[in-house]
Amino acid sequence: MKSFLTTEPELQKVLIPQNRLQERVSELGQEISQAFDGKDLAIVAILKGSFVFAADLLRAMTTECSIDFMGISSYAGQPGSGVVRITKDLDESIAGRSVLLVEDIIDTGLTANYLLHTLKQRKPASVDICALLDKSARRIIDLPIPYRGFEIPDVFVVGYGMDYQQHYRNLPHIAILRLNGSPKSQPDSTDSDQADSRNVS
Ligand code: PRP
Repeated sequence: MKSFLTTEPELQKVLIPQNRLQERVSELGQEISQAFDGKDLAIVAILKGSFVFAADLLRAMTTECSIDFMGISSYAGQPGSGVVRITKDLDESIAGRSVLLVEDIIDTGLTANYLLHTLKQRKPASVDICALLDKSARRIIDLPIPYRGFEIPDVFVVGYGMDYQQHYRNLPHIAILRLNGSPKSQPDSTDSDQADSRNVS
């Protein structure tokens, strides 16, 4: 991680305030609890961006579940291909279990699509997606997202776990980041940390 950002970003405005996030995450937690009541639910949170959302979502749920994490990054030179490298695999088997894949944001859908296929190969009872944010205007692959927090426009967002060059993950709300004077959905940096399918198409 860099000590300083290489460009001068500007937080343009709050897109989703903290209280609205809390309300919606609470609703999602209740909805998921009802849907998976009595099932052997395995939450799979995708690092890094989903860690804040997953932590809040779990605390909003009343049903029994486990949580495991999968770390991924895009292959260098293939950003936006949807082909990801697993940097941290699940600790536990998901065979026969009801899996809920928790993502912070779905943009092109390539990452989630790859993960769905990867997880299905492990013979779970089911795999469903829960995404806090859906930037459907950028979708390349159609995906079912039964549990969705917010639909957002095609702007680059940070906060509540989401970053720009590893910064801003700690913001308690979701903000729009603009670079060089205009809102960006695709930052200019070519840093390898930017093997980021949210940023690079
Ligand atoms: C984000 C998000 C998804 C992916 C979505 O991760 O968590 O994994 O981008 O983009 P897509 O729908 O276009 O494939 P990111 O690459 O920002 O990594 P991070 O979570 O580690 O910050």
